[in-house]
Amino acid sequence: MRVALGCDHAGFILKDVVAETLARAGHEILDEGTFSDESCDWPEFAERVARRVSAGEAERGIAICGTGLGMAMTANKLPGVRAAVCNDLYTARYSRLHNDANVLTMGARVIGSGVAEEIVHIWMETPFEGGRHSRRLDLLAEVERRHGGKEA
Ligand code: RB5
Repeated sequence: MRVALGCDHAGFILKDVVAETLARAGHEILDEGTFSDESCDWPEFAERVARRVSAGEAERGIAICGTGLGMAMTANKLPGVRAAVCNDLYTARYSRLHNDANVLTMGARVIGSGVAEEIVHIWMETPFEGGRHSRRLDLLAEVERRHGGKEA
């Protein structure tokens, strides 16, 4: 899969670990920065990742900051993006099974690199379950439309 990957200064070191994990699994990476641990603003890098997914240029996005929160808050502003903060394995699995999350965000100050690698594996490999969950995602898209968003 093609995966857009981004971070702020807090997620900079973990981004490299995630990039290696993705590359080893055969995924193509669009590295959206940041490229150093110099202080920067998370909305900028979250938007870069989310824009790729919203525009269909990447099938998935992964964005890392200190907690995962700012990245998800930003990414969810873009049409068609379903970003999930996953700092544990259960949430990672169910964000795919039930929510068909297309952007994963993680907190580099919350989890270590070993857990992050496991989360990435699970999140990349778990399919969407469909069925009753598709209806709920249709309702979610409806909410987005009602409040000014458009389909990606
Ligand atoms: C940066 O200090 C921190 O606020 C940021 O990485 C993130 O956790 C925001 O949600």
